[in-house]
Amino acid sequence: MAVFVNGVIFEGVDTAAPDCWRLEAYMARGGYQALKKILDNKIPQEDVIAEVKNSGLRGRGGAGFPTGLKWSFMPRSFPGDKYVVCNTDEGEPGTFKDRDIIVYNPHALIEGMIIAGYAMGCKAGYNYIHGEIFEAYELFEEALDEARKAGLLGQNILGTDFSFDLFAHHGYGAYICGEETALLESLEGKKGQPRFKPPFPASFGLYGKPTTINNTESFASVPFIIRDGGQKFLEAGKPNNGGTKLFSISGHVNRPGNYEIPLGTPFATLLEMAGGMKDGKKLKAVIPGGSSAPVLPGEVMMELTMDYDSISKAGSMLGSGAVIVMNEDVCMVKALERLAYFYHEESCGQCTPCREGTGWLYKVIHRIANGEGRDGDLELLESVGNNMAGRTICALADAAVFPVRSFTKHFRNEFEHLITHKKALVDHKWC
Ligand SMILES: Cc1cc2nc3c(=O)[nH]c(=O)nc-3n(C[C@H](O)[C@H](O)[C@H](O)COP(=O)(O)O)c2cc1C
Ligand code: SF4
Repeated sequence: MAVFVNGVIFEGVDTAAPDCWRLEAYMARGGYQALKKILDNKIPQEDVIAEVKNSGLRGRGGAGFPTGLKWSFMPRSFPGDKYVVCNTDEGEPGTFKDRDIIVYNPHALIEGMIIAGYAMGCKAGYNYIHGEIFEAYELFEEALDEARKAGLLGQNILGTDFSFDLFAHHGYGAYICGEETALLESLEGKKGQPRFKPPFPASFGLYGKPTTINNTESFASVPFIIRDGGQKFLEAGKPNNGGTKLFSISGHVNRPGNYEIPLGTPFATLLEMAGGMKDGKKLKAVIPGGSSAPVLPGEVMMELTMDYDSISKAGSMLGSGAVIVMNEDVCMVKALERLAYFYHEESCGQCTPCREGTGWLYKVIHRIANGEGRDGDLELLESVGNNMAGRTICALADAAVFPVRSFTKHFRNEFEHLITHKKALVDHKWC
């Protein structure tokens, strides 16, 4: 998958050049200048954090939590070990941007994590990388070696008294390992299951020590913020939605891929960049932020801009920035059946409402999709969802409910059609 447009992370990266990921190429693009600026000028930790706050950077992993604010929660004066952890688990269906960051521009992430380590007083960091992308993992390891040999990682970085090292770790191949506390459990070598919160990772994280976890794209945005200033990053986007953002577009478009564009860009422009609708078909629906984000009708999306506030006002989420485009031929019942199966499969099983509820959601949607729906099934879906959302240890249960609520709200007629006409499924115009 190629990256088509350059923003602050892919600024000057020629993804077609085989060595674009190497340290030399990164240095030529102004790489590690942000780190040098901090170390040469002995910029205080709180000033680095303040700059990240000023940038308006919001976490790119899904929730959009302000990154600078998260960094300020780290108890910097805690005397023992503290960690920064990067989440490159990227298991959300539709999302494939973090892989491209470590394949084409790994040093942006490494530099961002070193700066985070400096700002929060950490001596070690880990990058938890999705278990199935072996080549990307190996390439990231090679980039770490390059940085170590150049004195950018390890003891006394660039001859200063600041030391920090960074290690890659294979993910264990489950979607739930992307949830931050499940990730920490997995990193510790245990079964990847979410922890009860509180305590939050800032006070009880990896090995019980203060830990800050951010998404790959969040860390990779930091070098630009420190080098060129938080204000410039903020201005690249719109107020409260600072910077550029990577959008992974998949589905019925002519040029699926990753596009790094300013937050606040109209969805219509993004769709056009992706080559427009495939085969000239009509746009029916869009999931704007990864499979957990509520689906929106195409005509609603065409009026929106791609930023946290605009998408949330319309009743969905920008999430991880995975934009799944569906054309007029898509059966929304079948699409939801596929999503429901995913969440049922991926529930870790700790909480009864999630373990049982995801199964019930799938079972009911499956029977509707197969022409065996019953009167009252839509109400049953609503009731099951109400007994799941907000009642579990982690947000996977909510992530399973949001698609069900939004599909049955915006495309209710298709569900009703199948429940009423049952076996007429084969003649049904959407299948
Ligand atoms: C089920 C589940 C899966 C998640 N998967 C990911 C993931 O693959 N990558 C990611 O960055 N965040 C994922 N998250 C969000 C993380 O828990 C966490 O909020 C995020 O890594 C924080 O980084 P940020 O503040 O930079 O966004 C997931 C959350 C849940 C509930
Ligand atoms: S909500 Fe689901 S995935 Fe999350 S901890 Fe509970 S059972 Fe596991």
